[in-house]
Amino acid sequence: MSTLVIVGAQWGDEAKGKIVDVLGSQARIVVRYSGGNNAGHTVIVGQERFTFHLIPSGILHKDTVSILGGGMVICPKGLIEELQRTRSMRSELGAMMISAAAHVVFPYHRLLDQLEEEARGHNKIGTTSRGIGPAYQDKVARIGIRMGELVRPERFETRFREVLTVKNRLLQMFGHPPLEFEALFSEFSGYADQLREFVTDTEPVLQDAIQRGERVLFEGAQGTFLDLDQGTYPFVTSSYPTAGGACIGSGIGPRAIDSVLGVCKAYTTRVGSGPFCTELDNEIGQQIRDQGNEYGTTTGRGRRCGWLDLVALRQSCRINSLSGLVVTRLDVLRNIPELQVCTGYRLNGSVINHLPSDIDDLAAVEPVYETLQGWEEDLQSCRSLEDLPRSTRIYLDFIEHYTKTPTAILSIGPEREETIVLRRDLIWSH
Ligand code: GDP
Ligand code: IMO
Ligand code: MG
Repeated sequence: MSTLVIVGAQWGDEAKGKIVDVLGSQARIVVRYSGGNNAGHTVIVGQERFTFHLIPSGILHKDTVSILGGGMVICPKGLIEELQRTRSMRSELGAMMISAAAHVVFPYHRLLDQLEEEARGHNKIGTTSRGIGPAYQDKVARIGIRMGELVRPERFETRFREVLTVKNRLLQMFGHPPLEFEALFSEFSGYADQLREFVTDTEPVLQDAIQRGERVLFEGAQGTFLDLDQGTYPFVTSSYPTAGGACIGSGIGPRAIDSVLGVCKAYTTRVGSGPFCTELDNEIGQQIRDQGNEYGTTTGRGRRCGWLDLVALRQSCRINSLSGLVVTRLDVLRNIPELQVCTGYRLNGSVINHLPSDIDDLAAVEPVYETLQGWEEDLQSCRSLEDLPRSTRIYLDFIEHYTKTPTAILSIGPEREETIVLRRDLIWSH
């Protein structure tokens, strides 16, 4: 058995896509276990830039099978476009399968996402407007339509007619005109024809591979603090990005997981609303945004940037029972003379070292900082720990020491080669 979960350890965009691509060539299967096209995972190969929203980031390896797991919500049009775009860039891709249990995102989900956000006024979540929340709402309400149903014409017609009637009532409550059945049914039947060959029960495929001792990699989307239960509720997504979500979203048990790596940036970013106590609303924040080109892959929005929050990272290590950390974007922190890291939260006169679950308390915490020396050097050509400047190594030691979690991999640039593997034993068990 050799199974590995790659999870976002912060608020998303930690460079999960790059890491899954790098490790994907060593895996038989890569399975995405949660979320939908709210995710944007970037893979850079030479001059080519691939952005995956739904397709697992292992697809570029022709001997690796990519599975879109049952925990996902899938926009069929988005998936078809993504597949066409990827095929136009690469003629040889790995095989792809879609779990019949994954839910379908329909245009009414997108519309409701926007209408609900407008209705929230000042309390906007800042969603990606991809219909993710409303699609998961339908799943939980047990009226969602699954991929397995979409590809069965008669079943789809009956279910879609039923659900659209309910959704049209909801749209009208928001003052939006109803959607017309015939046009949408025909549009989605067309998508079903294009996707039918990929849709199957993927859970047995995974179980068999695990039984055979093949390497299986679980690709997380979003990040730990966007998790519906473990995140900064209500400023979260509607799924379970944490390591536990890998079980629910792909159909394996917790004892089938050998290793969990948490991907974290050397600093912190967040897109959308919600408390962010180490946020830098100043020149340094702008410097990090510029040096790191911190603009969203999915929405193009400028990402909020701040110092590394070790309180949050340590909590993430615990929630996900991390075997190791993957520290990314270390190169971005150059030319900042002093780096601060948050080691505690001051709340109502005392210092705590966990994220309070109440959102008002979380918004009220003040960070307690330790100051570490920065570095000027460009790290992108470093290929071993010894190549890194001394102050960078001290920064990394501080992270390990505080989180009590070893660093397995370092990333010092977007390219595959700009990766330093420190602990192979934490990645695969064989
Ligand atoms: P994901 O959603 O976690 O897959 O991350 P995104 O793809 O949304 O954002 C990560 C961005 O950082 C992408 O543009 C990557 O190409 C880029 N990237 C990945 N690793 C590194 C790194 O170590 N240094 C720098 N400078 N960029 C990186
Ligand atoms: P990857 O996989 C960063 C954020 C949105 C918003 C909140 C809810 O690329 O790391 P949603 O559309 O999911 O209902 O939005 O979650 N969000 C992400 N932020 N990276 C992501 O994915 C995200 N997916 C959702 O910005 O604050
Ligand atoms: Mg992203």
